Amino acid sequence: MNITQYIDLKRKQVDRALERYVPEQKNSLAEHVNAMRYSLFAGGKRVRPILCLAAAESVKDFNDAFPETVMLTACALECIHTYSLIHDDLPAMDDDDLRRGKPTNHVIFGAAGAILAGDSLLTHAFDLLSRDVMETVSAHDRLTIISLISKAAGFEGMAGGQFLDLTHEGKEVEYDALREIHSRKTGALITVSVQAGGVLGNSSPERFKSLTRYGIHIGLAFQIIDDLLNVEGTEEQLGKAAGSDAARNKATYPALFGVAKTREKAEEAVQEALAALDGFDDRADRLRDLAQYILSRER
Ligand code: IPE
Ligand code: IPE
Ligand code: MG
Ligand code: MG
Repeated sequence: MNITQYIDLKRKQVDRALERYVPEQKNSLAEHVNAMRYSLFAGGKRVRPILCLAAAESVKDFNDAFPETVMLTACALECIHTYSLIHDDLPAMDDDDLRRGKPTNHVIFGAAGAILAGDSLLTHAFDLLSRDVMETVSAHDRLTIISLISKAAGFEGMAGGQFLDLTHEGKEVEYDALREIHSRKTGALITVSVQAGGVLGNSSPERFKSLTRYGIHIGLAFQIIDDLLNVEGTEEQLGKAAGSDAARNKATYPALFGVAKTREKAEEAVQEALAALDGFDDRADRLRDLAQYILSRER
């Protein structure tokens, strides 16, 4: 199975699990849950859940039969990611009207509906992480996962990064500040996706450190490539706005370094990520392939 087939297979497994974990409602909340599901099933790549599964597999043999605990965690990460996209697109934030190839959540459900859909997706993630079956993971590991994920989503991670992203619009930004924005707004959730997989695969402390290093570097690479695609891609190809970063004067790698140097920076980050996996055997090959995929992705 090559990496494209692997991603395809895992995406389908994640989609099936999400369908079970975020089912339609027939009661008074039907419309609210439909708003959550609208963005959740709009066709995301599922990079974070897939990284979580691949990280778990890099330290433990699951023989392609992931326990419910791993799937719950992978899906919780996708719920948080989807919430972040819904809020990111709001008129008060990036004000975008296309996402995952469809009108953005607020275009369909209104700003209040979109804010609440995001709120419920974020909160639901922690419900998934607290399901009874999670008791098969040790209390220590469960708390580690919840603590890492809440920090990655919160002020030190994604939400803090989004704050920095918005407050740096239209300003000159130094390289250190730019790297911090990218590491927080996008890197943190990607890093924790890998870390959570490591914990669920019972990784040793040394392996966990290496997985963290891998996650930090691919997280950064992921956002650098996102910047690049915003310059070089088309709306049709991306399923979201192109050229919008320059229009909003966002702090991005291409704005600071130009396109060619930006790609070099992404390549360097991926090389660092691969180096972090040096001590791993071939069970980490999926993570290695995913690092290359993040570099060469076209949407
Ligand atoms: C887009 O994330 C937003 C960023 C954090 C860069 P993805 O590129 O993973 O978006 P989907 O989930 O595939 O729509
Ligand atoms: C997205 O950053 C980061 C989060 C949603 C947390 P961007 O605003 O750069 O991503 P796109 O281009 O809208 O997907
Ligand atoms: Mg944004
Ligand atoms: Mg945006």
